[in-house]
Parts: sequence; structure tokens; C-alpha cells
Amino acid sequence: MSNNDLAIVILAAGKGTRLKSSLAKVLHRAGGRTLVEQIVRACEPLKARETVVVVGYQAEQVAAVVEPRGALTVLQQPQNGTGHAMQVAKRALGRARFAVVLPGDAPLVRTDTLKVLIAAHHTGNAAATILSAVLADPSGYGRVVRKTETAVSAIVEDSQLTDEQREINEINSAIYCFTLEKLWPALAQVKPNNKHRELYLTDAIGVLNAKGETVLAQVAADSREVLGCNTRADLAEVDRLFRERKRSELMDGGVTIQLPETVLIDPDVTAGEDTIIEPGVQLLGKTKIGAQCTIRTGSVVTDSILGDNVTVEPHCVVAESRLDDGVIIGPFARLRPNNHLKAGARIGNFVELKKSTIGEGTKAMHLSYLGDAKIGTKSNIGAGTITCNYDGFHKYPTSIGNKVFIGSDTALVAPVRVGDGAYVGAGSTITDNVPSDGLAIARGRQVNKPGWAAKKRRELAAAEKPKKAARKSKRHKRTKKRK
Ligand code: UD1
Ligand code: MG
Repeated sequence: MSNNDLAIVILAAGKGTRLKSSLAKVLHRAGGRTLVEQIVRACEPLKARETVVVVGYQAEQVAAVVEPRGALTVLQQPQNGTGHAMQVAKRALGRARFAVVLPGDAPLVRTDTLKVLIAAHHTGNAAATILSAVLADPSGYGRVVRKTETAVSAIVEDSQLTDEQREINEINSAIYCFTLEKLWPALAQVKPNNKHRELYLTDAIGVLNAKGETVLAQVAADSREVLGCNTRADLAEVDRLFRERKRSELMDGGVTIQLPETVLIDPDVTAGEDTIIEPGVQLLGKTKIGAQCTIRTGSVVTDSILGDNVTVEPHCVVAESRLDDGVIIGPFARLRPNNHLKAGARIGNFVELKKSTIGEGTKAMHLSYLGDAKIGTKSNIGAGTITCNYDGFHKYPTSIGNKVFIGSDTALVAPVRVGDGAYVGAGSTITDNVPSDGLAIARGRQVNKPGWAAKKRRELAAAEKPKKAARKSKRHKRTKKRK
């Protein structure tokens, strides 16, 4: 079979009532992507001539996910069951002779498993080949009823099982390969014989068998690949399995992950060799981490690029920022979007950055807010330094040169510039530019008044004396009375 004969059909029109959600089931996420996107991606390497997604509930939102990936959508309205969905897809299938049909809610299936299914279909010269799986707990799934060791006679939905059939633990994954010229006439004979009055694609299997066509079932090597997401608990389990896969992929590439089950990593994240990821870390979005980095416990890094030898100390939050080689941040640092920390920069505890550039080797170690700031190399930003970048109407930049020393508790009222090599005295409120190599001190001058406190204490004590004496005599009289 050439790929030119093959179409992919993804059934994604249903609402997913059992999730109890206003969002269509296939738009829920597992492993960092929507369910339907996971499936489209798993099918892409098959290079089918067409990928058709049947949409219905929240059709536009589903289309917005799959169309950018090159899939076509067809609208099923109303949603009269999986068999009806397949009939609706027919007009979009063009000259395809075979179709791999998948539900929109079983996203763990791997490309290789689909290849095995297609190969089994062709080797067996079948009209339909079901991807089945043997589950310890098959409840909820349609069961595969075999007539011989290899051939299938029917699929029976969970709600329609006889007591005897309930013992069957081979389930229908709802992933199939069909020979289309055999499927269409069989599907035309399917009746809505169920309490939902829907046309079940699964009933086409029984019809094909009755017509004497070959129906096979290929058992998935890993039964976890076919798990469907009908409930929130299913979603959680499928997400867990995706995350496990992603962690294994990174570990296989030389990344150490401690207590891996506590670490959440999105699918597009990369990390270099000998990087260590501590427990409770989240690496999200398109984050790229170099080699020999350490991401310590409790940190959340989103859409950021880290060079080599970067250390993120515990409990940092990093978004859309670039950290060059050897940067150390945290513990408890917060990087809001658009920062660039150049090689060897050091950001300490309770420092917040936004849209700032921190030059090579520059340090801001304690309790600061640096927003819209451009800071040169080897400067020292003292504890509690604040860039006052917002006047209530607009944002303004702060520019700090190379080898600058900003004393603790400085407020830099932007827009303002501090030249190379300049010093700013602690506690200053800087409203004017500071020239290179100069010293700026902008605070009230200290006044010392010798002996002032001692004198004050004496005055207070003197005022207290008569009052105390009065209280004492009052007490004396009371005790006398009682006696
Ligand atoms: C289906 C199978 C069941 C199988 C299970 C595996 C049928 C009748 N049953 O049951 O044998 O064990 O999957 O997970 O097929 N959809 C449409 N249009 C519709 C109805 C459904 O596009 O009119 C889509 C849904 O959006 C969903 C997929 O088809 O993505 C499967 O529907 P779902 O309701 O989840 O079927 P199950 O009850 O899980
Ligand atoms: Mg389902």
C-alpha cells in the first residue's frame, strides 16, 4: 500500500458529557497538548494523503487546533454517533482506499503502533482490522468478540454485554484500519439499535463479519497506549503517562531527574547532558536548557532559554527570559517576561525582574525590583534597589552602566541614567542622571543631637514619680480596710 491510498479520520465531534465540562473533550489537555493535537501528531509520520477531523461540538475551536497542522475538517451536525461521524467524513476522503480511523480521545497511541496495525491489515487482506488491547479492568470499553483465534465476529458495547461477554478483557481501542470500499456498504446497513439512538461504527464490524468479510484484531503491545479519556480520572492517568514518556526521553538523553514522578515537563522542552532536575520542578512551554545546569526544587520555568552551567536555586519563577552560561538565580527569584541575563550574572533572593538586561558578571543579590532596566557588566546592585519605572501613566527605562555601585535601598526614578563606574550612596532617591565615575547621594542629611535620648528619659521618669506615689498610698488604704 502506498501512503497515497491512505487517509486518516479522527472522530472529534462529540461533547464528552462524562467529563462534565463546558469545553469539548478533545480540547482538554494531556501531556501539555490538547487530546486532538496529540492524535494528529501521532498520525503525521504516516504521511497519509488526507487527515480528516470530524468536528461538531465547538467545531471552530477544534478546527483552530488541527487545521494549522494541515488537517481538513468536516462538520457533523448533529452528532449521531461514531458510525454517523464516519459517514460524514466520506466526502472528504477523496481517492483514499484505506483509512485509519481514530477517536479523538485516545491520545497516547504511538505512530509505530499504527504502522503495525496497517501492516496487519494488509498482510491479513482484511476488510477491517481493530487495534485491541487486553486490560485488567475492561469496564466501560466495547469488547472484541472473536470467532476464531484470529478472526473477529463483533464488537459489543459495554452497555450491551451479556454476562458471558462481560468476562472478555480484550477491548476495542476505537482505532481501526478499514478498506473503504468494504466499509461503506456495511455502514449503510447499521441501525441505531441502542438507547442513545446513535449509529455505532462498532456495529459495522458485525455487519462485515455477517457478509463474510475478514475482520481482524491486532493486540496493542502496550495496552496503556489505547486508554481513552472519558472522565477526569482518565485524563489524569493519560497525562501522567505522557509526562512519564517525556521524562524518560530526557533521561535517555543524559538528564538526571530526581524523584521523576514529581517533575512536570512539557513536550517541546529540551535539556542538555548532565543537567540535574530536582524534585517538584516544572519545565513548561518551549523552554530550552543547556548542559550541566541545575534546576532546583520547586522552580517553574516557562518559555525560557538557559545556556550551559546555569543554576536555578529553589523556588524560582522564570518566564520568557534568556539566561546565558553560568548565570545563577534565586532562591526565590521571580523573572517576569523579557529579561536577558548575560554570562555569569547573579540574581539573588526576592529579586523581581521585568524586561531587563543584566550584564555579564553583574549582581543583584537581595530584595530588588528591576523593571525596564539595562544594566552593564560587573555592576553591583545593592539590597532593596528599586527601579521606579512607572509614574501611574507610562513606563520609563533605567540605564545603569558598567562597574557601577548602587548602594542599598536606592530608588531610581525613571527615566534615569547612571554612568559607567559611578557610585550611588545607600538610601538615595535618584531623580537626575549620575555622571560616569561620580558619586550621587540623594537623601536627607543626618543630624546628631548628643545626650538627647538620656535627657528625654530623665524627663519622663520625673513626670512619672508623683503618679506612682499616689497609686501606692491608694493600695495601702485598701489592704488596711480588708484587715
Ligand atoms: C468508543 C467505542 C468503544 C471503544 C471506546 C474506546 C463506539 C460506539 N464505541 O466508545 O467500543 O471501546 O471508544 O475508547 O464507537 N464522536 C463523534 N461523533 C459522534 C460521537 C462520537 O465524532 O457522533 C467522537 C467523540 O468525539 C470521541 C470519539 O468519537 O472522540 C469516541 O466517542 P466516545 O463517546 O468517547 O466513545 P466511547 O464511549 O469511548
Ligand atoms: Mg471515549
